[in-house]
Amino acid sequence: MNAAKKKAAEQMENIDLVIEVVDARLPEASTNPMVEELRKFRQRPCLKILNKIDLADPDATSRWADFYNAQDGVTAYPMTTKKPADVARVLDLARKLAPHRSVPTKPLRIMIMGIPNVGKSTLMNALLKKRVAKVGDEPAVTKQQQKLYLDKNTILVDTPGMLWPKIALPTDGLMLAASHAIGSNALIEEEVAVYLADEMLRYYPDLLVARYGFKDIESFDGIAVVEGIAAKRGFRQKGGDYDFEKASHTFLGDYRSGVLGRISLETPASRAERLAAHEAEMAVKNAEKAAAAAEKARNAANGKRGT
Ligand code: G4P
Repeated sequence: MNAAKKKAAEQMENIDLVIEVVDARLPEASTNPMVEELRKFRQRPCLKILNKIDLADPDATSRWADFYNAQDGVTAYPMTTKKPADVARVLDLARKLAPHRSVPTKPLRIMIMGIPNVGKSTLMNALLKKRVAKVGDEPAVTKQQQKLYLDKNTILVDTPGMLWPKIALPTDGLMLAASHAIGSNALIEEEVAVYLADEMLRYYPDLLVARYGFKDIESFDGIAVVEGIAAKRGFRQKGGDYDFEKASHTFLGDYRSGVLGRISLETPASRAERLAAHEAEMAVKNAEKAAAAAEKARNAANGKRGT
């Protein structure tokens, strides 16, 4: 068990509720399965915050909310930390999920978990800003664990360090990089931009047209989109070729800041489709590997017999 998991497992024992924050544009790709594993083991309820809905497709977000609300012990809450009214509801929802707590003798103990860049710190700061009193903040001496009182009946327990996403599908890495949850170098940025362009051509072509004024977009592929942005913006290298790198960077910046519109990179249906395709691909690969191993074993046995 790695250090973060060990710490999370220990802390799960001493809390009443997990607030798991994911990115509403890619909720499954931006989750760490360990959160579910540990909270199920300790039977802790979960307030699943689909954050950054200001950037996500409302229709996809509503499908994800239904998807998570159908899970045992989970309540989905689509929100944005940009809206104080959304933040203000978090504690009420949390209290409803652990109604036996939230009294001075039994304060509600909450842990906020999630992969980097989904908005945990922003949420925590927003919740802490609303605090009436700071009295009672105490690092527990034995475990050096920080506990902060959000109000007199609610404690925020320190998060267990870095939780990285688990890249279950090859497209997860691309989605995470596009959304800036993981860093990407320039070369990968070009690959990520082409991936995003292909996804947008499939699901949001109108948003591409609206932003960049493309004509005959039906004939475009992802590369043509990025080249088209370079052409429209006059991004050229010294020799006159399109500056693909600069165009990729601009395109990803437009997506990340929301100027392209509200875009989701996965829905429950597209996720299920991708998982099924990936499993089928893996099954073929495994069968091929097994056949090659059997062939090798046969050849080895024949060779032995021949000697
Ligand atoms: P973390 O603790 O989970 O690592 O995330 P953090 O709060 O640091 O937030 C990561 C980025 O996401 C920050 O932007 C933050 O402003 C932004 N963010 C958080 N909540 C929301 C939201 O509801 N909507 C939008 N649009 N943005 C949100 P940043 O520092 O500028 O980073 P980046 O976005 O440039 O990577």
